[in-house]
Amino acid sequence: MSTPLLQACGIEKKFGAVVAASAIDIDIAAGERVSLIGSNGAGKTTFVNMITGYLKPDAGSITLAGQDITRLAPRAITHLGVARSFQIPQLCGELSVLDNMLVATACQDRRLSFFQPAHRPERLARADALLERFQLTEHRDRRVAELPGGVRKLLDIAMALTGQPRLLLLDEPTSGVSAEEKFPMMDIIMTALGREPMTVLFVEHDMDIVERHADRVVAFYSGRIIADDTPAVALATDDVRRYVTGTLREE
Ligand SMILES: Nc1ncnc2c1ncn2[C@@H]1O[C@H](COP(=O)(O)OP(=O)(O)O)[C@@H](O)[C@H]1O
Ligand SMILES: [Mg+2]
Repeated sequence: MSTPLLQACGIEKKFGAVVAASAIDIDIAAGERVSLIGSNGAGKTTFVNMITGYLKPDAGSITLAGQDITRLAPRAITHLGVARSFQIPQLCGELSVLDNMLVATACQDRRLSFFQPAHRPERLARADALLERFQLTEHRDRRVAELPGGVRKLLDIAMALTGQPRLLLLDEPTSGVSAEEKFPMMDIIMTALGREPMTVLFVEHDMDIVERHADRVVAFYSGRIIADDTPAVALATDDVRRYVTGTLREE
C-alpha cells in the first residue's frame, strides 16, 4: 500500500481531567474527502489543531506523507502543504476582500519580502482567480467588515488555498450560516476545491451535507473515534446514532 498522506498514530490529549483525544489512529489517503462529525466537545477541533500544530499531543505521532510533523510549529506545517480555515474566520475587517487575498498570497510567497513589488501582477492574478472560483468577484472591492458571515467564510477558505495545499482542514465551514444558505455554500466550496488534487477534512454537523460531500466519515465521541467508514455505513451504526445524530433513543 502507498504511504498515507496523513497518518495519526496513538494520539492522546488531555486538558486537566478532560480527555480531548484518546487512542486516535487514522490513515488518510491522498484525495480523500473526509467528514469529521461528533457532538460539541467530542474532540474534533482538538484533532484539527494537533494536525496543524496549534496543539501538541501528549502522546502519539502525526506524519504527513511519511514525514513526522508531530513537534513542528504551525508555520512549518503550513509550508509542508497543510492549510486550514477556522470556525470563526481570521480576516482583517478593515481591508477589502482583494487586499485580504493579497496579504494571504504574499504570506505564502517565501521568495521575496512582503512588499517587494516585482511579483504583484502574478499575485493579483492568483488572487483574482481564487475569488472567481469562490464566486467572490462581486465582493472584491468591499470592506470585509461589511460582508455577510457566509461570504466571510468563503473568503477565509479561498485565503487558505493561496498556498496550494495538499491537505485542507475546514472546521465547521458552514457554522453560523442560515439553514437555507448552508447547502449552496457547501456546493460552492466543494466545486471550488474539486479542481485541485487536494485532500479535504471537514468538520460538519449537518448530516445531509456530510452524505452529499464526504466519501468517508470519522465520528468522534468523548475524544475517541467511534466510527470510521463510508457515510452510509458510519451514520447507520448504533454509536453514531446514539452519540452524534441522536436518532437512536434508548427506551
Ligand atoms: N484549550 C483548551 N483548554 C481546556 N479544555 C479544552 C481546550 N480545548 C478543548 N478543550 C476541551 O476538550 C474537549 C474537546 O473540545 P473540542 O476539540 O473543541 O471539541 P469539538 O470541536 O468536537 O466541539 C472539550 O471538553 C473541550 O472543553
Ligand atoms: Mg469544534
